[in-house]
Amino acid sequence: MSVILLLLALSSTVIALDNGLALTPPMGWLSWERFRCNTDCEGDPENCISENLFRTMADLVVSEGYAAVGYEYINVDDCWLEKNRGPRGELVADRKRFPSGMRALADYVHAKGLKFGIYEDYGNYTCAGYPGILGSSRQDAEQFASWEVDYVKLDGCYSLPTDMDVGYPEFGRHLNRTGRPMVYSCSWPVYQIYAGISPNFTSIIEHCNLWRNFDDIQDSWASLESIIDYYGNNQDYIIPNAGPGHFNDADMLGNFGLSYEQSKTQMALWAILAQPLLMSVDLRTIRPEYKAILQNKKIIAVDQDPLGIQGRRIYKHKGIEIWSRPITPIYQTYYSYAVAFVNRRTDGTPSDVAVTLRELGLQSPTGYRVEDLYEDVDYGVLSPNTKIKVKVNPSGVVILRADVQPERFSKRPLNPFYYRYTKK
Ligand code: GAL
Repeated sequence: MSVILLLLALSSTVIALDNGLALTPPMGWLSWERFRCNTDCEGDPENCISENLFRTMADLVVSEGYAAVGYEYINVDDCWLEKNRGPRGELVADRKRFPSGMRALADYVHAKGLKFGIYEDYGNYTCAGYPGILGSSRQDAEQFASWEVDYVKLDGCYSLPTDMDVGYPEFGRHLNRTGRPMVYSCSWPVYQIYAGISPNFTSIIEHCNLWRNFDDIQDSWASLESIIDYYGNNQDYIIPNAGPGHFNDADMLGNFGLSYEQSKTQMALWAILAQPLLMSVDLRTIRPEYKAILQNKKIIAVDQDPLGIQGRRIYKHKGIEIWSRPITPIYQTYYSYAVAFVNRRTDGTPSDVAVTLRELGLQSPTGYRVEDLYEDVDYGVLSPNTKIKVKVNPSGVVILRADVQPERFSKRPLNPFYYRYTKK
């Protein structure tokens, strides 16, 4: 019997990329959504893809308190390369825009206590037309290691999706052989899904720390909604692949084109979905209320929960959605939960949602301590039969955390109608 149990336990364990990285979703800053492929350093020196931009963002990640709440990686996206490789076939950073070279930029980022990420592409070219790694993957992996890169995003333009089952693992092995731990972010499944191929997630989990499943995010509510729907509609297929060391990647956090409420919704759902928190925003000009969203420690704690379980949509009716994620602490067989109420309705008035904890799947007889993660509202300890009522703004969110209580606190009987609402 115990042998069978052991076998069962082993078979349900997903074998993940064994580089010890991304045990929780990576957090940092990535250039693409906000700065794109702006190479015009003469006309637009402040916003072009250049070493200055990344140094400035690294400075601000530290000085503005982002590093203190967990943001760690400074990641370069496309358009950092010269159009041609160097005489020894090596990758060369654009000489005008990165005059000090990538090793110097990595050193700068490391000296700030941060980590450094880079972008490449599995194919002949990157999506913006710079040299890809095809045919040079070993040399490029070694070059990244010599530059002390900590994170590689490997895109999939200009390559054959059918080759990816071999090519992505091969580059991952080259990265591993350098001996330098580098987070490996893959675009492998999304290109295969677009090509009508059903991705081999067993292999993707084994070789990548995170991977894109769906469209690039654009800085709009419509784009964000399409991603939310994709993750909800395909959740039974997507969720089992996520776990410590291997996460789905719904793309960057941006807020230039999102309202305040919509930005709150993105942050809350990214936390529920165990997503990487890669800000693609201009940290020089971000408004304080948006900065507060990105620095919300309670929501970051949900995102970074050590169980690494990706949450799911548990309710969807007439524009109201409820999303929930099991988190620590666990008591006996009961998880704690983060629960997000999202209002997708477009009538301009907030919607009331009333539900008992039991209806949300929170069944522990010992009760749950419930608090709101954006508003300073503490609901106290509630029993599963307690009905909570929240008001959700249009395109906005209310996110709660319910910590299961250990037995010793349940000695006093829980009044099912007990409902403490304290606004400090
Ligand atoms: C896309 C990728 C984006 C960005 C862009 C750069 O394919 O999904 O995240 O990296 O290429 O050209």
